[in-house]
Formats: sequence, structure tokens, C-alpha cells
Amino acid sequence: MIKQIQWSYLLMGMSFFTLLSCTDHKSGKNSEITVIDSSSQISITHKVTLPQAHIGDLEIDTMLLDSYTPLPQNIRNFYLEARDVFYENPNANFTNPLILESAQNNNLALMGGPLLGKLDKNGLTIWLRPSTSKSLEIKVNKSNSTEYKSYLKNSPEPGIEQRIEITGLAADTEYNYAIYTNENKIAGGSFKTPPDTEQKGIFRLTFGSDFHKIGLHNPNLINTILKRKPQAMMLLGDNAVDDRDNKVNMHRSDYLLRDISKPWIQLAANIPLYSCWDDHDYFNNDKAGIPEGFNTTDRDALREIWFQNWNNPNFEGSGIYFNTVIGPVEVIMLDSRSCRENSKRGEYGSYLGIEQLNWLIERLKKSKSPFKLISSGTMWSDYISNGKDSWGTWDTLAREEIFKLIESEKIPGVIFLSGDRHGARGFTIPRSTGFEFYEFEAGTLGGVPGPAGMAKDTTHQLFGYDGTEVIAFGEFTFDTKSKDTFVTFRLVDEFGKVLEELKLPYERLVP
Ligand SMILES: [Fe+2]
Repeated sequence: MIKQIQWSYLLMGMSFFTLLSCTDHKSGKNSEITVIDSSSQISITHKVTLPQAHIGDLEIDTMLLDSYTPLPQNIRNFYLEARDVFYENPNANFTNPLILESAQNNNLALMGGPLLGKLDKNGLTIWLRPSTSKSLEIKVNKSNSTEYKSYLKNSPEPGIEQRIEITGLAADTEYNYAIYTNENKIAGGSFKTPPDTEQKGIFRLTFGSDFHKIGLHNPNLINTILKRKPQAMMLLGDNAVDDRDNKVNMHRSDYLLRDISKPWIQLAANIPLYSCWDDHDYFNNDKAGIPEGFNTTDRDALREIWFQNWNNPNFEGSGIYFNTVIGPVEVIMLDSRSCRENSKRGEYGSYLGIEQLNWLIERLKKSKSPFKLISSGTMWSDYISNGKDSWGTWDTLAREEIFKLIESEKIPGVIFLSGDRHGARGFTIPRSTGFEFYEFEAGTLGGVPGPAGMAKDTTHQLFGYDGTEVIAFGEFTFDTKSKDTFVTFRLVDEFGKVLEELKLPYERLVP
């Protein structure tokens, strides 16, 4: 049971992460753009390639541990011992006694987390996976105050993920938090609540795709994301698990590899994350629906593992799709893998499944948020790979229905996001009405290869980088505070260089 304690006036007397200060500032196109001192760059020592990540054997996964800086010995021991248990036992999960014993022997109170999620104007949810049943206490204070609120979780079950709701906070406010067991601080971080949807303000959200395990261990990339202070981040697929088919034990092993990464821990502890999957964190390359040789039990197991290891808002349907309102933005993340109907490829409803498609249509009609970000694991437009494994060869009818709905109902503020085709790209999607949609893809977070950055026909392409040219992420800064509402898109590389910047006045997003 989670119990909330009233504000206390005690000094917290602890130091929180100070990740958010910058070392060097230069004026660019925009005064808030930061250029990082290149001396802060950390060199890669063990480069893991994409084909290696797909294999993910012991040697390759171990190489990722030290790809930039060596891991502390106790964390390494724990990972190797737990990975061995997962590898040997197809049904192993985090409650396995050998895994719990290893965590305790290596002095690890947490086997995963804190992972922030479900941010709203009054709080968020903290996900974590403890190794013991010791009670957890989370103290939360405003960053400019020593008063704190306390939230308790008594006797958590070891190895089972916990979700602790932090409620009763103020909108548009910076907070620090620290997690204790028996008065010992075991983790901490900071976050900022969004402005109320009605309230005028600035809200920054980051997004990207295709970590492919590799990028989760990149301190340059993750430090840069943290320094730019986004209030939330969307991960559009191929995140942590790579090509594990229906081997749920190895899905768990890959989540463990994520959760012991130091850069990942800092990202997850300081920025609320929202995620959807693409093919590689579902079954395997280009796999969708129920792939040949697998069954609905396999699919359900993968959905369950997904749910256990992320901290997304609750799903409303049978897939992993969801919507949530964060400040001025309604985030709609689609499940563009597990609801596909393979035997009906090309027919209406085959890509999202009828249930999800109808849900999306309803969400769009009902949304009151000024902005809507709609993510698809694969591309909305067909410019790069001619619809390969995406809307263009699966369901152009439903795509057209969605586009038409937005135009006919004059639904404002919609921006499309996508991943899958490794690279960072921006497009417009022209309509016969003269209106244009915008689609942005920001990758790859893992620096992995893919198709050419620019399409053969560049008429509707705003920019393009291939997957290995840059390691970059996307960023939206929504401004509802200025006289005229607008959003600025930026593409930022792992060292903080702003590669692309596009200011979109709100009128451009109104059909
Ligand atoms: Fe990918």
C-alpha cells in the first residue's frame, strides 16, 4: 500500500544529481541552444555493430557493458550471474532465487529503475524493481525548497516491478526526489511537472528511435539529452530488446542489460519515458502480428513482458498502444506491430487492427489538447522505402481515413512521428486541399546503418541523415506562452550540436 505523508519541514540533507548544468554556452540561431565543451566527450572503447546487437550472445552483450566506461565490478558480477540464470532457464524471471541472491550479494537494492513515467501536472509514477522486501520510501521536494512529501511502499515483493504514484504536486514546477530503504538512499533524480493544459507555458519533449541496445550505453548522447532539460521523452521502438523472438527469458535478460547501464539509469531517473515497440523489440526483423511459427500465447507473453518493463500510461485495448495528456500535448503512441493482421495485408484495418484504428479515430475526435503527437513505429510517408513494412504497403485506406478526418474535422496541432528506417528525417505530406502534414523521424539513437538519408525524390523532404552519419535525437519545444502559439522542432546530435531547427507557427498545423 502506498501511503502519502504530509509535507515535512525537515532538511533533506542530500545531494541530488547535478546533471543539468552546462560547461560552455555559445549563441546560435537561438540563444537557448547550448554547445557542449568537446572535452566532456567520452570516447567509445568497444563498438558493437548492429548485426552483433541482433545476435546478442554473451560476448556481445558483455562488450556493451564496457562500450564507453568500465562498469563497477559489483554490477558486472550481478549482470553476468543473472544473465546466466536467464540463459539457462526459459521460464526464469526476476523473482528467481539465484538472481535475487546475486543482487543482494552484490549490494544492489534495485535491479531496475527508478524509471519515471505517467507524468501529469500533479505528479508522476516511479517504476522500480527491488531485490528485497525492505520498505521503500520516496521523498520528493521542490528544487527550491527543503520541505518534502513522502511516499511509502511497504514490503514490496522482491523481483517484482513496483509502481509508486507521486501525487499532489504543483504544475510547471521542478522537483527532486530520493529513494530510501531503511534510511539509506539508494537512488534519486529530478523532474519537472508540465504546465496545466489550459495554462500558458513552455513544454519540451524529446523523442527518438532505434537505440538497438547499443545507444542505451552512450553517455554522450544521454548527457546531452539531460542537459537540454526535456520534461518527457518518447522512444519509438527498437529500444532495448533485440531479436529475441518468443524467448521471454532473453527479453528479460535484455531489459536487465538496459537497467544496469549507467547512462540509461540517469536518463530513466530524470526524464519520464514513453515507449512503443517496433519489430526488433517485438519478435524479430520485420515481424508483426503473429509471425509464422508462433501463436497468440507468444504474442500475449511479449505484451506482458513489455508491460512489466516499461512505465507507460495504461493500455486501453489489447495491444500496447496508449494516449496521455502532458501539458499542451496529447501523446498518442500506436502499436504498429502486435495488432497487425498478416493475412489481410493491404486491406483496410490490417495495419493497426480495427480495434486500435477505431480507438485512434475516437481519440482524435475527442482530443482537446492544442498539440497531438502521433507516433508509429514505422513510417507514415512512403518516401524512403516505398512503404516497406509500413502504412504504404499495409493500409493506405486507413491512413487516408486518418488524414481526411483531421482535415474534415479541422483537428489542429497534429504532428506525426515515426521510426524504423534508420536515419533522421523530416517530411511534409501534401494534401489535395493544399494543407501539409509534418512527419519527423529522429534516429538513430544507436548510430546504426539503414537506407540513404535523403529520398530519391526530395520534393517533400525537409532534411535527411542516414543512420550512421549522426547519432541524433528530436526535440519539440511547445510555446503557448508567447503571443502566437508555436512549436520549434530541433534535431540535436549526441554532442549537443543543433543540426536542424524548424519553427512551426500554430496556423501551419491547422487544416
Ligand atoms: Fe531499428
